[in-house]
Amino acid sequence: MDRRFVDCHSHVVPSGDDGAATIDDGLDLCRSAAGHGTAILFATPHVWPYFTLSAEREAEIRAAYEQMRLRSELELRLGFELTPTAPLLQEDPNRYVLGGTDCVLMEVPFSGPPDSLFALAEHVDQAGLRPIIAHPERTEAVLADPSVADQLAARGWALQVNATSLLGRHGPEPQELGWSLLERELGKVVASDGHRMTRPAHLDEAYALAEERLGERALKLFDGTALGLARGSV
Ligand SMILES: [Fe+2]
Repeated sequence: MDRRFVDCHSHVVPSGDDGAATIDDGLDLCRSAAGHGTAILFATPHVWPYFTLSAEREAEIRAAYEQMRLRSELELRLGFELTPTAPLLQEDPNRYVLGGTDCVLMEVPFSGPPDSLFALAEHVDQAGLRPIIAHPERTEAVLADPSVADQLAARGWALQVNATSLLGRHGPEPQELGWSLLERELGKVVASDGHRMTRPAHLDEAYALAEERLGERALKLFDGTALGLARGSV
């Protein structure tokens, strides 16, 4: 099949978080993603406030990633998904880039105000890197005040909407907000945030819907354009 999707957000490399538990589980997720049209898949283990990226954890993740990269039928790359915290502001964000890009993936905190996210995105910006803001449509701050999304986009930061939100898997409100972000051209990229076989790293179903609703401009939301990886530059 024609594989053209670039998925910048998934949890397919085992890392001790809530993503794939084993390398074999992760490879199943990669195989499934490839079968649903993904050409490049980024594994983005969580960096949580209480489960940070210690040197030991990083070494384990990188070793698991290397094993999987060699056995995966799609192009597997490594990055991380940062939950904003104050200690991250003291670190060099180059440590967390999505492999082969100048982008750093970070999530809007699911609850509470978005201040810590603005601080982290500014920190990444100042390092000459580009923030990608994961699933604003699923978060309390943006659902309560959608103008927060406008403020983030006005800073030039790419908003990433989850494919599952567009499909209604997180309920009607994130679904409606997700589509409105794409329709208003604030959302620049759609990713799977795939975690497990019951929540796989698939983009095809959301892409079919996006093509219906948005027409030709749907493709650039799915093909890595926002990361500088669109076909031709891969
Ligand atoms: Fe995620």
